[in-house]
Amino acid sequence: MAILDIVSVPDPILRRKARKVTDFGKDFQMLVTNMIDTMRDAPGVGLAAPQVAVSQRLVVIEYAEDEDDELEEGAENSATPKKLYVLVNPEIVERSDEMVLGVEGCLSVPDLVGEVERHERITVKAFNRHGSPIKIKAEGWLARIFQHEIDHLEGIIYTDRTDKVWKPRDDEETPLD
Ligand code: NI
Repeated sequence: MAILDIVSVPDPILRRKARKVTDFGKDFQMLVTNMIDTMRDAPGVGLAAPQVAVSQRLVVIEYAEDEDDELEEGAENSATPKKLYVLVNPEIVERSDEMVLGVEGCLSVPDLVGEVERHERITVKAFNRHGSPIKIKAEGWLARIFQHEIDHLEGIIYTDRTDKVWKPRDDEETPLD
């Protein structure tokens, strides 16, 4: 297990279009494991390979579906299990017309958050860490995290998509990815 260094803006690797993964061998498996450990250590809800200075099309996401959705009064949320996603060469193949605003932060953009418009629902095609094809439908915050991470593979940072960025208040909690 290793915790990798997370690079921040203006590191140029964050602006590069990442290369497709073609080798799912031992080195790649090590990278996936280290990225999961790094995401958990940060802690973050997602991490894209360019954020650890590796220009490859790989993202890891770990998120409990209900984590930031509105809960009914008194609802018990602690039991919601987190789900881990490893997406290799991901591609968004369907996008809802419906757009939603939400507040995002990024582990590579310290001390800022911003309001970003994203598709409410998307369908992603990708490969898992062993190279098998997978297809995932996501909505709400999970769809937002996927869009944020896949943007990283194109060299896009959330601050490119909004003029509304600010330093978060101490009590303002935003998941980072
Ligand atoms: Ni990010």
